[in-house]
Amino acid sequence: MINRWGIAAVLVLGVMAFGSCRKTDDIKPQKRVLVLPDEPYDYATPPNETFFAPFGDSVINNHVATLGRVLFYDVSLSRNNRVSCGTCHRQINGFADNRAFSFGLLDSLTGRNTQTIVNTGTQFGFFWDLRESTLDHMVLQPIANHVEMGIADTLYMEEKVRNIDYYKQLFVDAYGNEEVTSKKIGRALAQFVKSIVSVSTKYDEGRMMQSNPASNQSNLVDFANYTEMENLGKHLFFRKFACSQCHGGVNLDGSLSAPKNVGLEFDYKDNGMPGVDDFGVKRDGFFKTPSLRNIALTAPYMHDGRFKTLEEVIEFYNSGIQPHPQLSEELRIREQGGLTPEHLGPVIDFNLIPLNQGTLPQKMFMTAQEKVALEAFLKTLTDYEVLTDPKFADPFQ
Ligand code: HEC
Ligand code: HEC
Repeated sequence: MINRWGIAAVLVLGVMAFGSCRKTDDIKPQKRVLVLPDEPYDYATPPNETFFAPFGDSVINNHVATLGRVLFYDVSLSRNNRVSCGTCHRQINGFADNRAFSFGLLDSLTGRNTQTIVNTGTQFGFFWDLRESTLDHMVLQPIANHVEMGIADTLYMEEKVRNIDYYKQLFVDAYGNEEVTSKKIGRALAQFVKSIVSVSTKYDEGRMMQSNPASNQSNLVDFANYTEMENLGKHLFFRKFACSQCHGGVNLDGSLSAPKNVGLEFDYKDNGMPGVDDFGVKRDGFFKTPSLRNIALTAPYMHDGRFKTLEEVIEFYNSGIQPHPQLSEELRIREQGGLTPEHLGPVIDFNLIPLNQGTLPQKMFMTAQEKVALEAFLKTLTDYEVLTDPKFADPFQ
């Protein structure tokens, strides 16, 4: 029975709950001291000679990227002053997170696995469902996202940044004046994110030893700096199992191809990219083909972090692909329009791939040694420089 005291108690509790909620929103930034070098770090030059343009068309300005670095690690950009981009995109994990879903505001969880963010300058679509095409606009989304950082009101975000002392000089250095706008914040964040380039893996080293490193053909010869096992894995990746049909290009990602359904499930819980496929059928399970750079450090894997190890991912491709009606043709059996290695000349001819003729997954029949070799190859994609480079590290101490 609820008497009037009961109702009063509920009201008081309600007010207390509301009050405490407001309180967490107003928590002052934890005392953290910003430490920057006297001269800005060099963001404009890639850390090593490379066979591709790691910034894409962008020219990186060292002062703008420095401002971006501070914004990237500044918890003040979140509603409760607890979360920064760096909370989820962790340098030691290849700028991904080591959990299936990441903690955002008030311990709420993201709906998808945090993506790695190296070599974004070479990419044209962002997020697992490719919903954003430009980085300058994209980088403001996490700030507004109510799970991630929770400041949807851009005027409020600008005001917050304006009221923090260290930003005055940083904006002057970057843009010539103190004026704070969300556009400038977005540009600085994008410049910093684009500056996080990975060009120093064992794989890059092997490519650079070839006579024409820029040509994809150079993937087809053995690398002198690889072990036998790594070279076997490379052969399986680029030829026998042709993983590179989707994980292609300089970044071993989908920048050369459309989003793909890899048959993770027959009935996807997360439908991925909205809209319809080439045949006008509602898309289900289409996701961005992720970059495999630093893949050994970005576990767990897939858009929902379902696989804990590379071994599990490889076993999935070997035996776990589900017969989804929209399974990508690269993974279908040949009689049903799938692509097998015999289709592949030295250069893949995509015109040879018949479209949408079936659903049955190609069985790869990997041997135990082939699985080990694939994993060994994937591990040559780790870039130890980008993981430890102080110019990409948290500047707050
Ligand atoms: C609470 C965790 C979290 C925070 C904080 C966060 N992110 Fe993310 N980030 C994610 C997740 C999860 C995804 C994938 C989201 C999706 O696909 O729907 C992602 C995706 C991205 C991507 C796309 C990468 C790609 O390959 O398509 C970029 C770039 C990015 N975030 C940059 C940022 C920046 C810049 C900030 C800070 C302003 C930030 N993130 C803050 C979790 C986070
Ligand atoms: C049809 C295109 C396609 C082919 C072929 C393909 N992949 Fe993938 N790969 C994807 C897509 C798309 C995802 C993300 C799927 C998801 O999360 O729903 C992915 C995810 C992965 C991941 C996890 C990445 C991460 O960051 O979570 C690894 C590792 C991987 N693939 C390795 C391979 C290997 C090894 C092969 C060859 C045996 C291969 N892939 C063949 C498209 C492909």
